[in-house]
Amino acid sequence: MRKRILVANWKMHKTAAEAKDFIRQLLAPANAEVWIAPSFTAISALKGSFVTVGAQNMHEEAQGAFTGEISAGMILEAGATFVILGHSERRRLFGETDARILKKVQRALSSGLTPLFCIGETEEERQQGKMAAVLQRQLKNLPAADMVIAYEPVWAIGTGKTATPEEAQEAHQLCRALLSQMWGKERADKTPILYGGSVTPQNAADLLKQPDIDGALIGGSALSPQTFQEILKL
Ligand code: PGA
Repeated sequence: MRKRILVANWKMHKTAAEAKDFIRQLLAPANAEVWIAPSFTAISALKGSFVTVGAQNMHEEAQGAFTGEISAGMILEAGATFVILGHSERRRLFGETDARILKKVQRALSSGLTPLFCIGETEEERQQGKMAAVLQRQLKNLPAADMVIAYEPVWAIGTGKTATPEEAQEAHQLCRALLSQMWGKERADKTPILYGGSVTPQNAADLLKQPDIDGALIGGSALSPQTFQEILKL
């Protein structure tokens, strides 16, 4: 049985003081793990709370002359235990390639951080029938290790358009089949695959009911403790 994991990706929102205020209002759910990826400067503010704390990105090198970047060791020291890698905003707005994201995954693993590895097709790719090829390309060469995968169709992120539960299940099943080919069935079966993209308290229950959807990666609906709590209660 895979555990349910509900992850808040706060993106460039919330100061450390706002993060503390948020966590004071949140109750731990009975049957799910809660993970939060705040800004780097708010990681230590959530340390010691009931949530698992992570970062939204990191550099692939351990250290060096990379002005403005942050290393795995730095975010670990701040209190993070996981790191989101390959988010579509990093791929699209910051030009991160599959090869670079894989280097980040290797660095995270060798540093003791759990990667939350994001994949997903654009609207155009879906319309052209390329979804499977895109997911296969993004998963290619991913090392067999303990990590969490998030399937986030790019057209659903921050747009209010969600994949239907059936569309999401189909993509998740495909991801699991690809992982099974790469890693063997046992590891594929125990790897949590989360859905992300305009998850709300209204659509979350039907998505989370799907057999291959093990949780959610939530942006907009995780910014208010009330709305996030509604999803945690499901
Ligand atoms: P959203 O963001 O829930 O606001 O669509 C999800 C994400 O980017 O991880």
